[in-house]
Amino acid sequence: MPQTEAPKHKLIPVYIMGQKHMVPEGSTIMGALEYVGYQLKRGVGCREGFCGACATVYRVEGDYKLRGGLACQTVVEPGMYIVQIPFAPAEKAVYDLDELKPDISVFQRYYPELFRCVACNSCTKICPQEIEVMDYIQALIRGDIALAADLSFDCIMCGLCAMRCPAEMAQYNIAILARRLYGKYLAPKAEFFRTRLKEIREGKFDEEIARLMKMSREELDKAYYSRKIDFKIT
Ligand code: SF4
Ligand code: SF4
Ligand code: FES
Repeated sequence: MPQTEAPKHKLIPVYIMGQKHMVPEGSTIMGALEYVGYQLKRGVGCREGFCGACATVYRVEGDYKLRGGLACQTVVEPGMYIVQIPFAPAEKAVYDLDELKPDISVFQRYYPELFRCVACNSCTKICPQEIEVMDYIQALIRGDIALAADLSFDCIMCGLCAMRCPAEMAQYNIAILARRLYGKYLAPKAEFFRTRLKEIREGKFDEEIARLMKMSREELDKAYYSRKIDFKIT
């Protein structure tokens, strides 16, 4: 009689889309989904917590709260109920950045729902990036685009905040407009960068680029790690 091999990992029960499965303890939700046979075509991207594609809603056994997280970063717990959200079909304004002014009128025009914020903080509580979402929304209501751009810098557009918002706004789409306006109109200009671009266009580095293009992967690795980092941003 063939012997059944003991599983290498302890298995714990979770409920995926309402169905009970045994999955390895310590795995991420994404790992658990794949372990039980889901082939992820949506709701997956970088697998490293950067792309925001894997927004997931879950509840931990014995707790009434619905929580949100990234499937690639959140570790399963026994009795967890898991549902993946492929994407949030949120409103995204279309605009030409060159025609906008970096002030509050832009938000009044493209995202008037911003001003309905009731300061409930639900968005901040669900954000897997631990961003002060409500604070950047409130900064925009005051017209402080620079602060909103700064506070929202780590947003990965997962969409979870929008799903909790009683004012029905897509905070992340509003925030990316703030960052675009900041980057184009308000951020201090890096003169070093302009100078270097000009030098590149004038061919100052053509010879060096040609030399790099002929290198093997190993030679490139060596050159990269032994390079002298010598620049200052002014
Ligand atoms: S701000 Fe919203 S969209 Fe951005 S990471 Fe946080 S929850 Fe996700
Ligand atoms: S969830 Fe919506 S209403 Fe509540 S603080 Fe965040 S943006 Fe404002
Ligand atoms: S797959 Fe990219 S954040 Fe999870």
